[in-house]
This record gives sequence, C-alpha cells and structure tokens, in this order.
Amino acid sequence: MAITALKYTVQEKALILGIESSCDETAASVLRREADGSIEILSSVIASQDEKHAPFGGVVPEIAARAHMQKLDDIIESAVTRADVQYSDLSAIAATSGPGLIGGVIAGLMGAKGLAMSLDVPLIAVNHLEGHALSPRLAGECPFPYLLLLISGGHTQLLSVKGLGDYQRLGSTVDDAAGEAFDKTAKVMGLGFPGGPNVERTAKNGNPAAIKLPRPFKGKDHADFSFAGLKTAVARAYDASDKTEIAKADIAASFQEAVCDVLTERSLRAMQMFRDDIKAEPDSAQRFVVAGGVAANSQIRSSLDKLCEDSNFSLLAPPLKFCTDNAAMIALAGAEHYALGNFDNMDVKARPRWPLDGDSAKHNPASGFGKKGPKS
Ligand code: KG4
Ligand code: ZN
Repeated sequence: MAITALKYTVQEKALILGIESSCDETAASVLRREADGSIEILSSVIASQDEKHAPFGGVVPEIAARAHMQKLDDIIESAVTRADVQYSDLSAIAATSGPGLIGGVIAGLMGAKGLAMSLDVPLIAVNHLEGHALSPRLAGECPFPYLLLLISGGHTQLLSVKGLGDYQRLGSTVDDAAGEAFDKTAKVMGLGFPGGPNVERTAKNGNPAAIKLPRPFKGKDHADFSFAGLKTAVARAYDASDKTEIAKADIAASFQEAVCDVLTERSLRAMQMFRDDIKAEPDSAQRFVVAGGVAANSQIRSSLDKLCEDSNFSLLAPPLKFCTDNAAMIALAGAEHYALGNFDNMDVKARPRWPLDGDSAKHNPASGFGKKGPKS
C-alpha cells in the first residue's frame, strides 16, 4: 500500500465508505471508527446476483461485472442514506481491489476512485481476503491472534491472523473452493444454484456412508485442500446411479460427509501449525474462527465444534451476514488502514491475484502458485 505524500491528515474519528464487488455481491457500507478503535456499522447494503447466475449453475464473470456496474451507484447511495450521513462527512473511500473476478473488481474500484477524487478524500485499496480475515471483529470482541478457516464460493484458506497486516497462510485450496464443490455437486444433480443449501437439504434424507468418495490430501503434513477430484467422483457416482431421489440424497450426504472430513482433518493439522506460528504454550486455549458462506452448513459447523472442543480451541462462528461477502468488512479493513495513514494513489490497479501473505504463497507451490504467480 503506497503512502500518499502528506496530502491528507488522519482524523481521530473516521467515517469510512466501503465498497465490495469482487464476486457476485454488490455491496456498500458506512462504518464509524472512534479514536479508541471501537467501531459502529452505520449501514451495510448488499445486492445479490444469485438470480442472474442461477440458470448457469455458477457465477458468470461477464454477467457479474455488468450487474456491478448497473447496481453500484444505487447501492452506494442507499448505504449513505441509511447511515444518515452526507457524502461530505466521509473521511475515506475503501474498496476491494483484489483478488477476485477482475471485471467486478474494476467496476468497484473505479467507482471508489471517482468518489474519492470528487470528495477529495483518501482512497484505500483493500485486499478482499484481509476483509474476511478481520470480519469476526465486526461482530464483537475478537482479539488477535486467531486461526481463521475461510470457506466460501471463491476461497478456501486457513490463515493465522496475528494483527493488522500480519497474516500467515497455513493452507489453501490448490484447485476449487469448498463452496464451488457444493455448487458443482448441485449442478450435476440438477439441484439449483447456489448449491450449498440445496445439497444440505437433499443430504438430510441420505446415507453418508452410501458412496465411497475420496478425502483429498488426508494425512498429508500440510494444511492445503483439493476439491476437484471429489467433484469428479461425485459426477461419476451420479452417472452410475439410477438418478432417483434416494440416489441423489445418498450422493449429497456422502459428498457432505467427505467435505466435513476433509475440513476437520485439515483444520486439525493447521491448529498445530498455528500454535507453532504464534509460539503458543502447549495446550493453551486458542481461538478458531470459521467464516464464508459454507460455514452456514450445520453438519460442518457441528464437526468443527467437536474438533475445537477436543483441541482446546474456542469456536467463533460470526453471524453469516458478516462472514459472507459484504462491504462492512471492507470498510473495517479500510478504517484500520486509515488510522495508520495507509492510503493509495489513484493509479492503484485492480488485481485478479493478490495473496494476503505473498511470501508463504511464493514458497508453497502447492497452494495455487500458477504461471502468473500465487492466486490468493
Ligand atoms: O461467502 P459466500 O456467500 O460468497 C462467495 O463466495 O461469493 O459463499 C457462497 C458459497 C456458495 O458456494 C454456496 O453454495 C455456499 O457458500 N453455501 C453453502 C451453504 N450455504 C451457502 N455451502 C454448504 N452448505 C450451506 N448450507
Ligand atoms: Zn469473499
């Protein structure tokens, strides 16, 4: 993050407008940060594009980018109105500038630049993953450090969150995100989009032991994930089945069981890595936060609950409105950077790839380090 020459002075109290557009939610939020670091969310407005992507069984980047462009102005206007503030009261504009679907990120970032320029306030380019990393703090006290499992449609990561700007990626998916695996499983069986809730509903009537599915990376001494093979195995199982409601329920239940197993086993591995990373006393109590849309799944939640109980971690599952994509988390990250005077110049670019913890991503080729560099 570039520090703009002393054009702006940091005010003790800040009113930050956050903008989020990295996937299929167009969102804006106004958040107040007091000098003592306490925060208040004055508004958080989210427009979902689910209906637009549903016919395709997944997010279509081009459709997402157009929808962001159409909606952004209204969503910002509504966030400012609901917060009962004036544009001229805003201290800074914070916007997601990556990682994400590039068309959407550009739409949000350009909107933010225009506003920052016209209001003559600083622009703060926020890493979307940093928003997620800080998001449990929107719901109340959540002191650093904590271990974060982020499971959404776009990301699956285990992060050691030690302080603002101090993150260690302990594990990440090398292919699909967990939510993507749910969405693709639903698509194969014609259950509708977004897939997660439909797979969960269908799984309720099924036998989780009916179909033998792989547990990718189980037992490996890293904390990475892989879901692509699981998705293919589900497609094969469905092809070979008689496609009845019972067959669908069995496949959904077996798939959900496999995802649960993988998430808990990889999280257990990350717990040890986290203890090492923060140099914790052996057996000391620690915090484990689960965020992202997939955290809505009740079987996954109860498996993680049990894992935490057995491992001396307390489980924090913030309300879904804070852990699925939203702009309040972007405003919060922006507010923290604002307080430090970390501002960006107008030439800051939208980034499809932007690992939160560049060094560890570079040194861990398993974690999605492609030709163009680490993804996230
Ligand atoms: O965090 P999120 O709202 O946003 C994006 O990643 O954009 O996560 C959405 C993902 C989708 O893939 C959806 O299928 C999944 O979260 N999801 C679930 C459940 N509810 C939503 N996955 C499993 N079980 C659920 N109950
Ligand atoms: Zn996200």
